[in-house]
Amino acid sequence: MRSYILPLLAAATLKVTALPANEAKSEKRAVIDWTTAYQKANASLAKLSVGDKVGIVTGTGWQLGNCVGNTKAAGSIGFPSLCLQDGPLGIRYVNGVTAFAAGVHAASTWDIDLIRERGNFLGAEAKQLGIHVQLGPVAGPLGKNPMGGRNWEGFSPDPYLTGIAMAETIEGMQAAGVQACAKHYIGNEQERNREKMGSNIPDRVMHELYLWPFADAAHANAASFMCSYNKINGSYACENGGILNKLLKDELAFPGYVLSDWNAQHTTTGSANGGMDMTMPGSNFDTGGRTGVLWGSALQSAVQSGQVQQSRLDDMVRRILAAWYLVGQDQGYPTASFNSWRIGSSNVGGNHKTNVRAMARDGIVLLKNTDKVLPLKKPKSIAVIGSDSVVAPKGANGCADRGCNDGTLAMGWGSGTAEFPYLVAPLDAIKSQAQKDGTTVSASSNDNTGQGASAAQNAEVAIVCINADSGEGYITVERVAGDRPNLDPWHNGNDLVKAVAAVNKKTIVVIHSVGPLLLEPYIDNPNVVAVVWAGLPGQESGNGLVDILYGAASPSGKLPYTIAKQVNDYGTSIAAGDDSSWDLFIDYRRFDQQKIEPRFEFGFGLSYTNFTYSDLAVDGKPSAGPATGAKIPGGAKDLWDTVATVTAKITNSGGVAGAEVPQLYIGMPSSAPQAPPKQLRGFTKLKLEAGAGGTATFALKRRDLSYWDSGRQQWVVPTGDFTVSVGASSRDIRLTGKITV
Ligand SMILES: *[C@@H]1O[C@H](CO)[C@@H](O)[C@H](O)[C@H]1NC(C)=O
Ligand SMILES: *[C@@H]1O[C@H](CO)[C@@H](O)[C@H](O)[C@H]1NC(C)=O
Ligand SMILES: *[C@@H]1O[C@H](CO)[C@@H](O)[C@H](O)[C@H]1NC(C)=O
Repeated sequence: MRSYILPLLAAATLKVTALPANEAKSEKRAVIDWTTAYQKANASLAKLSVGDKVGIVTGTGWQLGNCVGNTKAAGSIGFPSLCLQDGPLGIRYVNGVTAFAAGVHAASTWDIDLIRERGNFLGAEAKQLGIHVQLGPVAGPLGKNPMGGRNWEGFSPDPYLTGIAMAETIEGMQAAGVQACAKHYIGNEQERNREKMGSNIPDRVMHELYLWPFADAAHANAASFMCSYNKINGSYACENGGILNKLLKDELAFPGYVLSDWNAQHTTTGSANGGMDMTMPGSNFDTGGRTGVLWGSALQSAVQSGQVQQSRLDDMVRRILAAWYLVGQDQGYPTASFNSWRIGSSNVGGNHKTNVRAMARDGIVLLKNTDKVLPLKKPKSIAVIGSDSVVAPKGANGCADRGCNDGTLAMGWGSGTAEFPYLVAPLDAIKSQAQKDGTTVSASSNDNTGQGASAAQNAEVAIVCINADSGEGYITVERVAGDRPNLDPWHNGNDLVKAVAAVNKKTIVVIHSVGPLLLEPYIDNPNVVAVVWAGLPGQESGNGLVDILYGAASPSGKLPYTIAKQVNDYGTSIAAGDDSSWDLFIDYRRFDQQKIEPRFEFGFGLSYTNFTYSDLAVDGKPSAGPATGAKIPGGAKDLWDTVATVTAKITNSGGVAGAEVPQLYIGMPSSAPQAPPKQLRGFTKLKLEAGAGGTATFALKRRDLSYWDSGRQQWVVPTGDFTVSVGASSRDIRLTGKITV
């Protein structure tokens, strides 16, 4: 379920076109419509020379411009040199920006309003810096494999949760005026060998898992998509007509443009005819950036010789111009005011840290809390232990693109990073609270087990901070070349926890991690009384943690993935060569189908209060059969119609205020072949005072009750009984009903 709140920032500049009543929820979009944008683009296109057109579709070359990607201006139509810049959690290569919570942490809040606001703030910072295209958000990797090095840049291995997060982020960003770029399209699920390997994804799996959130991105009017490095069925993503022309531009009716990942283009005519619209950075950055220009004059020759139709070049340019008009960048947009290659200062963060603090807090997932040890009640003494409890000795930005893991972890590494303006570590924030409470704090700010144990020995409470990092494969950190080699904490974190728990009966484990970890070495240890999953929270890390540890807020995050008991339970591995092992059963879909008991299931998270569920009501049902509506961005129009509404009453029956995330899962009737037992199809976050009740409303779209029929090449609503399960996690189902079609 999605709640629709118009961001105040955007409201004043909205240009809303009249929409039919059943589309009223679209009115929040702060963009002119694509038809108007295309009219403007057509008028401008007519004034351009072939040279202008080639300049618009060809990057100027690596490091030849202020931004990580730049295009040529076309003065005759007032079209500027476009500035393209990373990334999904903040602006890369400039100081004075906000280092937001990472995508995976945003997902663990399950809070649509915060996710949308994060997108809006990201976009506002990009616009102030003169960035036209911000390279995010991320739906690929989706998270097929928990070891995928860049999973944390995206949201969740559940395509529905990721799809909602994509749409909200894109709408938030574009309402602020920047063009979003949905990436990496598609099948880029690992770092190992990513520029050569192939992802051979069967058609139905493609539609129901990997393409799904990208359809949400197209439906949210994303201006651009980025094609990925890998191949699909033997052909590189950036020249793959099957994924670009057929799936994206025809089936999803995507009106925007496709730009290449940096160096992901391999051919001149293949990429042009395969459906790519812009090459980045325009030259080969492995050879210094002056050579390896595959478009530019080579594209012009290909058009002259007829290997690429003039109409194809026009289509590329029309898409790029239309996207620029769509978000209003033709009206007084700032010029890029920073230089990526000499990191300088800026001051665009504003008060955006409020969003980071709220996410740092509300994305925390409480996994264990024996005898209500949390929230802390002014303990006499606390020991804070681990290198993850303090800012790295070299500083939070001590390594380029965050390529080291020497202190508290608040983002992974690679191109999807930003410079921290500051980083509040757990120990910093705990010390300020301790001062107010008169608590003595002792610290052991490394991972030495002996020193940790002696700090913990006489403390009333011991807080051990451990972490697990990963990132993009162009940097290797402590022998980890991107993908995770295992699901263990770094720096022997399990030993540190065990050493502390051996001497302290109130040991609290705080975990910062890019994805799931195996908790088996200590989760049942009676001295480990609490486990606090603190994710990848961004610059306000310690403050958000203290909010939860001390009960300023009740924990309300829920796991956006499954935490298994053993690594093999996930059933996936990083492929050594091409990957042909794709099915519908990733993450909880597999655990449910194979009846594997997870340690903590998808959607799980404890609270300081209790919620009761009652009064399930189901209203409406779809007609059986395929979606047949006219194509709009995202697919057939009727896929997006609400066909049934489910409501449930949620009551805070505990003693303190809190927020609950009721989740709706659908079980398909048996006439849908081989469907996963349960699939997330709705969620909402309800903030409730103690004793208060509220209604969770889930609007089910036709798409939510369809499966992809590969034979018919259509989304089909099967006949029979759909199970409707509403619960506090994927395995804590409180209410069930059905929809009979
Ligand atoms: C833009 O021009 C193309 C090619 O002539 C045409 O197909 C399309 O309908 C035009 N779009 C608008 C909105 O005028
Ligand atoms: C890739 O091959 C598989 C297996 O033949 C097929 O189901 C799928 O549709 C193909 N993908 C594309 C994008 O053509
Ligand atoms: C929630 O309810 C259970 C069962 O009634 C009770 O044992 C538990 O203490 C309650 N928890 C909170 C946080 O109120």
